[in-house]
Amino acid sequence: MLSIENSVAVITGGGSGIGETIAKYWVQHQGKVVLGDVSQESLKRVEDAIQAMGGEVVTMTCDVTSEADCNALATLAMEKFGAINLVVPCAGIINDGLFVATDRETGKVSGKMTLAQFQKVVDINLTGVFLTIRECAEQMINGGCKGLICLISSTGSLGTAGQINYSSTKAAMSVIPKVITAEFFRKKLADKIRCVAVAPGYVGTEMVRGMNQKALDRIIENVPINRLIEPEEVASLIGELYRNEAVAGETYFLHGGLRLGSKG
Ligand SMILES: NC(=O)c1ccc[n+]([C@@H]2O[C@H](COP(=O)([O-])OP(=O)(O)OC[C@H]3O[C@@H](n4cnc5c(N)ncnc54)[C@H](O)[C@@H]3O)[C@@H](O)[C@H]2O)c1
Repeated sequence: MLSIENSVAVITGGGSGIGETIAKYWVQHQGKVVLGDVSQESLKRVEDAIQAMGGEVVTMTCDVTSEADCNALATLAMEKFGAINLVVPCAGIINDGLFVATDRETGKVSGKMTLAQFQKVVDINLTGVFLTIRECAEQMINGGCKGLICLISSTGSLGTAGQINYSSTKAAMSVIPKVITAEFFRKKLADKIRCVAVAPGYVGTEMVRGMNQKALDRIIENVPINRLIEPEEVASLIGELYRNEAVAGETYFLHGGLRLGSKG
């Protein structure tokens, strides 16, 4: 079993939501955190909060779609703390829309998801994850670090209407751990650096809680535990996946029993 104490977590999207909660969880368990986010203001707020908790933190404003930024973030972790033990690429966006929209009266196509709308989500949610974990893995291997790369998938990975862009990127998060585990197995690295994904359902981040009550009620109607998943529950699962070294290559759903098929 690995211990979080003194271990170093690199978290992108660390300026809010799930990334912020994982960062706080990590320092509560005596780990150190390196946070990247496009929002400097959010990073400052989280940095101040973590320092007030007595935690060790370093932040860097970065855009995960930039190769140079991802390299700089991983390098910063090694320079500041000398190791990377957990990588959680949390930076992600949604930009929903129909693949093709049809007109109610004519039945003909009245709109299409634009290339820009599709690509923007792919750039951040997929290419950004690839760059983040590649740069961190390089530092982990060269630095002889032991730990976990934990991707953030979603129940959207199973296919959600209106999210062809988002669902496609989240489905990719389930296959990447298998590819990396297979490659690291060949190179005798799989016992040192493991890779998994967590796939949360509806998490009670500010954005989700800020939805109108009707939309929230419609979501919760389909969740057997009758509530949103708490961000702390996602952080706690990641902590356990980190500690338990038998865990590798798999995707772990955390959705309160969300009715994905029949309502039963
Ligand atoms: N909230 C949910 O219900 C839920 C469910 C399943 C999966 N997820 C996934 O969890 C992850 C975090 O989601 P969240 O709900 O905490 O969202 P959030 O919007 O609260 O946090 C995302 C963070 O990413 C940052 N970011 C956006 N683009 C960036 C970029 N190009 N470079 C660096 N940082 C960037 C934002 O500034 C923000 O701080 C996402 O990948 C999301 O898809 C969320």
